[in-house]
Amino acid sequence: MNVGIDKISFFVPPYYVDMTDLALAREVDPNKFHIGIGQDKMAVNKKTQDIVTFAANAAKNILTDEDKKQIDMVIVGTESSIDESKASAVVLHRLLNIQPFARAFEIKEACYAGTAALQYAVSHIQNHPESKVLVVASDIAKYGLASGGEPTQGAGAVAMLVSAEPRILQLNDDSVALTQDIYDFWRPVGHDYPMVDGQLSNETYIQAFQKVWDEYRRRYKKSFADFHALTFHIPYTKMGKKALLAALENEPSEEQERILEQYEASIVYSRQIGNLYTGSLYLGLISLLENGQLNAGDQVGLFSYGSGTVAEFFSGTLVDGYQKELLKDRHQKQLTERKRLSINDYEEMFNDSLDVNVDKEYKDSLLYSIATISNTVRMYKEA
Ligand code: HMG
Repeated sequence: MNVGIDKISFFVPPYYVDMTDLALAREVDPNKFHIGIGQDKMAVNKKTQDIVTFAANAAKNILTDEDKKQIDMVIVGTESSIDESKASAVVLHRLLNIQPFARAFEIKEACYAGTAALQYAVSHIQNHPESKVLVVASDIAKYGLASGGEPTQGAGAVAMLVSAEPRILQLNDDSVALTQDIYDFWRPVGHDYPMVDGQLSNETYIQAFQKVWDEYRRRYKKSFADFHALTFHIPYTKMGKKALLAALENEPSEEQERILEQYEASIVYSRQIGNLYTGSLYLGLISLLENGQLNAGDQVGLFSYGSGTVAEFFSGTLVDGYQKELLKDRHQKQLTERKRLSINDYEEMFNDSLDVNVDKEYKDSLLYSIATISNTVRMYKEA
């Protein structure tokens, strides 16, 4: 039986900062952001928009009433939780009207959590082929105004429907995971922003890719030649490229060019959005499928990385007719319809945080946004 991604879509908040504007405001050469980091725009959200808002908006694009009857598990991968106890997946389950006899929970391990959720979903479907699992990776990447990580911020979610006989990507049974206890990026309880050792995180990412890739090649007797494309967790678009260049060093130049060309297709959306944390790898996958030159039967390698650290390399096979399941027009429209913020407006939005200790009504035209805070509970504007 084949198991994998049957449907996939992303949602980003309707505001962005242009990276030239940010560079000039921070008195940095804009080429550092556009070329050195590889980012052109950065998604920003209002305080009335959170991971539930993003998750519900991403999932509503892909679910039919029939899917909602068949889904018996909802998993949210996130490191931007809105509650220390209750899972956002429970709220999401209600907002989307999914049938009641389902499991709903959150998974955490930095940016790796989306992959943990996906792998869990695959195991579930292998045992229960008649069911479907909704996996959502939803996050807000915030490092602080004028911080080193500021140009690598972002916000949004990717929703995936996992099923038997999927229509987009069937996952191959061939993953290699790696766990290492390293403090490259972490967020202690009570801290609004992560602690980050930027250079250590870059080095650990590159080495983690090399380690899982070497072990994968050894175990499964594979090489770059077996893949039509590789897609990466993308904290900023230069990062995956650095890891790829290091691994491609001894490959023939035509092989390097082929793989790097597909990498460029996988970063089209991330360049305009920034880091989605748990969703970044899957935003890269959507970008690759919607902007790359691939065909049914092609093999795609996926590298997942979460600081702390857990990394995993796994692969999938593109399904016949996958192109007609993609939502390219909707995704591109979403990006072009966003509002460009001035740096003043961005800073104001950044500092305007939600206080759940104050009961209040809010106005936000976005569907699935926070409408009311009552006794610390977030009530969402619903469809
Ligand atoms: P920085 O110190 O601002 O930048 O930190 P830099 O000095 O290292 O420069 C960055 C690049 O720009 C360099 O290129 C410069 O040469 C180049 P490189 O040597 O790396 O190829 N540059 C220029 N290029 C063209 N024209 C110019 C120019 N000036 C400089 N004028 C850093 C950058 C990414 C470290 C920082 O933004 C940061 O700390 N970000 C957050 C951490 C991060 O994203 N780490 C990535 C790996 S960890 C990860 O992926 C996990 C994560 O997603 C979290 C999770 O798992 O939950 C973050």
